[in-house]
Amino acid sequence: MTLTKLNQPALEELLKKAREAAENSYSPYSGFRVGAALRLTSGEIVTGTNVENVSYGLTICAERAALVRAVSQFGPEIQIAAVAVANLNNAASPPCGACRQVLAEFALAEAPVIFPARDGMRTMAFSDVLPLAFEMKLK
Ligand code: THU
Repeated sequence: MTLTKLNQPALEELLKKAREAAENSYSPYSGFRVGAALRLTSGEIVTGTNVENVSYGLTICAERAALVRAVSQFGPEIQIAAVAVANLNNAASPPCGACRQVLAEFALAEAPVIFPARDGMRTMAFSDVLPLAFEMKLK
């Protein structure tokens, strides 16, 4: 899958916003400070950070926090043109499986996803980050 022609400076800018969002992380249990930034096809940028809970499973990831904000602010017609994920722990943090499925609802297949991987920053098309997303086609 080819990446959309969102240029490198635009992706770097998105990454910067993701890093800034991570500054607001509420992560007293893991200490892992994650930020996400979504660029919508309208050009708007929406960010989110992880919000943990003492009942650990109730924790919300940065990517999903951003997505919920985006729909809440701009409505159900949004389309995600690019995704950036960052953390302040100098660690790899590709979006988790649950977040991939949630993003799939609104992300363009060719949307670039930029994230820190074990071998440095990686940029992949959304459809390569999540091939075979669950879909429900009732017959
Ligand atoms: N986390 C995210 O924010 N995004 C992901 O894609 C995976 C994990 C957060 C959840 C939790 O607060 C911390 O990272 C450690 O799992």
